[in-house]
Amino acid sequence: MKQPDYAAYARFYDYFELAGCEESEELNIFLDELFRMNSIKTVVDFACGTGAQAVGLARSGYKVTAADLSAEMLKIARKKATGLPVKFVTADMRVAELGCHDAAICIFNAIGHLTREECADFFVRARNHLNPQGVFVADILNFKAMSGKAFAQYRRMRREAIIDGLLVQHVRNCTLLKESRQLKIESLTRSQDGKNTPREIRDDWQMQLYDSDEFYTLLKSAGFSEINFFGPVGCEFDSETSDSILAICQK
Ligand SMILES: C[S@@+](CC[C@H](N)C(=O)[O-])C[C@H]1O[C@@H](n2cnc3c(N)ncnc32)[C@H](O)[C@@H]1O
Repeated sequence: MKQPDYAAYARFYDYFELAGCEESEELNIFLDELFRMNSIKTVVDFACGTGAQAVGLARSGYKVTAADLSAEMLKIARKKATGLPVKFVTADMRVAELGCHDAAICIFNAIGHLTREECADFFVRARNHLNPQGVFVADILNFKAMSGKAFAQYRRMRREAIIDGLLVQHVRNCTLLKESRQLKIESLTRSQDGKNTPREIRDDWQMQLYDSDEFYTLLKSAGFSEINFFGPVGCEFDSETSDSILAICQK
């Protein structure tokens, strides 16, 4: 599956994807409550990006192993985690061997970068990374909701920020490919340094989406025993209208 060029996008990621960070912070509070209830001490984050969950969880006292495919994303995460108990690893979740943990997470649609077959294999791999009774948490955009009203807010996104003294604009257009259940994304990131000619980065990628039945089947086939769905940041899940599916599964 074609991915965004995270090497080029890493320096903009926090400004355009985690802007304000409220959602990440709310999710970290939800994960902390869930993990406390399940006596979780160690966590592996399979696609940590710039550390939105890994750093937050380490601050709450968990021992975190944080992996990502992109060295540039990890570089930013490492900086944020200075002094915290996080072990960073450059690893591909499709083949990673990171030892056993009390919990495993893969957040913010990172699973959408995998094909359906890769996702099915990854769920088995994630389960194998868990200690007995371990908890797996993964989220993905909900294809059913995206086929309805939820798509309107994703169709076109426009953000701008001052980054390292430069005005940077990020524009994104999304198309829903109903047959393949994929989201096609085209983006333009434009940075303006004074009166110089603006620098433009164009990118495009696709993400695999799932409805809750399909997601449930993949998780069940991987061997998870208890599978519960929540909506974004842990609110109640509605299979037709919740933008995303947050799956909480037990080994
Ligand atoms: C949308 S970001 C999510 C990052 C983070 N979890 C967050 O909430 O901000 C997706 C991340 O998945 C990583 N990624 C994509 N494919 C991967 C793979 N096969 N193995 C490990 N990481 C991968 C990318 O490098 C990127 O950092």
